[in-house]
Amino acid sequence: MQGAIGIFDSGYGGLTIFEQIRRKLPEYDFLYLGDNARSPYGNRSYEVVYRFTLQAVRWLFSKGCNLVIIACNTASAKALRTIQQNDLPSIDPEKRVLGVIRPTAEFIGNVTHSRHVGVLGTPGTISSNSYPIEINKLFPDIKVFNAACPMWVPLVENNEHNKPGADYFIRKYLNDILSQDNAIDTLILACTHYPLLEKNIRKVLPANINLVSQGQLVADSLKDYLHRHPEMDSRCTKNSTSRFFTTESENKFSSMASVFLDWTIKAEKAELEG
Ligand code: DGL
Repeated sequence: MQGAIGIFDSGYGGLTIFEQIRRKLPEYDFLYLGDNARSPYGNRSYEVVYRFTLQAVRWLFSKGCNLVIIACNTASAKALRTIQQNDLPSIDPEKRVLGVIRPTAEFIGNVTHSRHVGVLGTPGTISSNSYPIEINKLFPDIKVFNAACPMWVPLVENNEHNKPGADYFIRKYLNDILSQDNAIDTLILACTHYPLLEKNIRKVLPANINLVSQGQLVADSLKDYLHRHPEMDSRCTKNSTSRFFTTESENKFSSMASVFLDWTIKAEKAELEG
């Protein structure tokens, strides 16, 4: 059976990835799921993030998706591998779940010259150490520094990211990462919410430091994946439609989505089960 491509995030942040994917692959159908009722995931334990993410993946499968993109670093860090290795073979070995960390790690090796890279993410992503591990698997010569930015997701989720109060936390976390090493030439925005802070981060970031956000590189990587896997590509419907589901209020999601997208959407309700 053919189906839409599923895109999952704990909340709104995955819309930054969705939008770039939709632009890159406009003919495909997409089904977006935001678990807004239980976001943020950033401070939650492995067990909880895994359980919630598995529920979301199962729900997207039940809606006909054969391919799901976990457009959330926290869920990619804490749940993806277990789902790929332990759950998929018994749920449906023909379906696929991909994350955002691997494509980012692949991309970063071609960007940094100093080979000193900083990663900014949620406490969950940073404590998992997933970025240093994935980057060093591909590029053992790169030194990776981490800093958790626990206030950035709440600023975005509450639409406070362009207000003066946000500047304090932008400077604070940039200082946390850049003070660790003065050879860092590339910073990864390793959370799908952070592109909304990008403009304000660039205002205070030294001009010689690259800032990498994930939307485009994940979209490029997905396009490449579909090209390399024609059997999966043929299982994806292509009618240029997008549907949005949330576990919280549909109206709230529809209005907040306009902060992330420059077009209007009408969200629908999703009920996830264990
Ligand atoms: N957007 C998610 C990520 O990329 C994090 C948001 C959250 O804390 O739930 O990590």
